Amino acid sequence: MSESIVKQRHYLKAMGIDLWLERPQAPQSTSNWQKLEQTVAACQRCALHCSRKQTVFGRGNPEARLMIIGEAPGAEEDRQGLPFVGRAGQLLDKIIEGVGLKAEDVYIANVLKCRPPNNRDPNPAEMAECGEYLQQQVALVAPQFILALGRIAAHYLLGVSTPLSRLRGQSYVFGQTQIPLWVSYHPAYLLRNPTDKAKAYEDWLKVSHLLLK
Ligand code: URA
Repeated sequence: MSESIVKQRHYLKAMGIDLWLERPQAPQSTSNWQKLEQTVAACQRCALHCSRKQTVFGRGNPEARLMIIGEAPGAEEDRQGLPFVGRAGQLLDKIIEGVGLKAEDVYIANVLKCRPPNNRDPNPAEMAECGEYLQQQVALVAPQFILALGRIAAHYLLGVSTPLSRLRGQSYVFGQTQIPLWVSYHPAYLLRNPTDKAKAYEDWLKVSHLLLK
């Protein structure tokens, strides 16, 4: 506290004036995050709210430079309320560490915030409704790079239907934000097709080099 403020308080106290201290306000972005998270938690925009245990908002550093976007919560995510915490998530965490990134370097979210029954693919109406929340998350994180994991996320974010194998290996931009976006395999796919792990590693190395530059 500066000397002049200390003096000012001393005089005010001597004059019997109680100090009125302004309560520190949460930064705008914090309150926006809370509002968005509460809105998502109460969302009933599509029928998935009937079968969910809870919504799955996101995890990681909300100020991260890399935002990782998957498809939709699975059973474990639905149970825990966090994205990528099942087997695919464990592989994702290993990949993140394997390319030299730390947990605080990333923010992780999905296109859908509710689990589709039996892990079926999200339908276009669900993605259109829920994607609005994702777009708000992207705006709040304002990452330097986005990495879309798997066909569903890549197609939704890029508005294309090109096979994932042809989308890998080059950079795109995400909508009007113009944030550079890369595409790689979904970790659940890698669990089923471990021979493609080497290609995924190449994708991740490219992104991590850009980040760690
Ligand atoms: N698959 C996803 O796309 N997201 C998750 O959160 C879990 C599995």
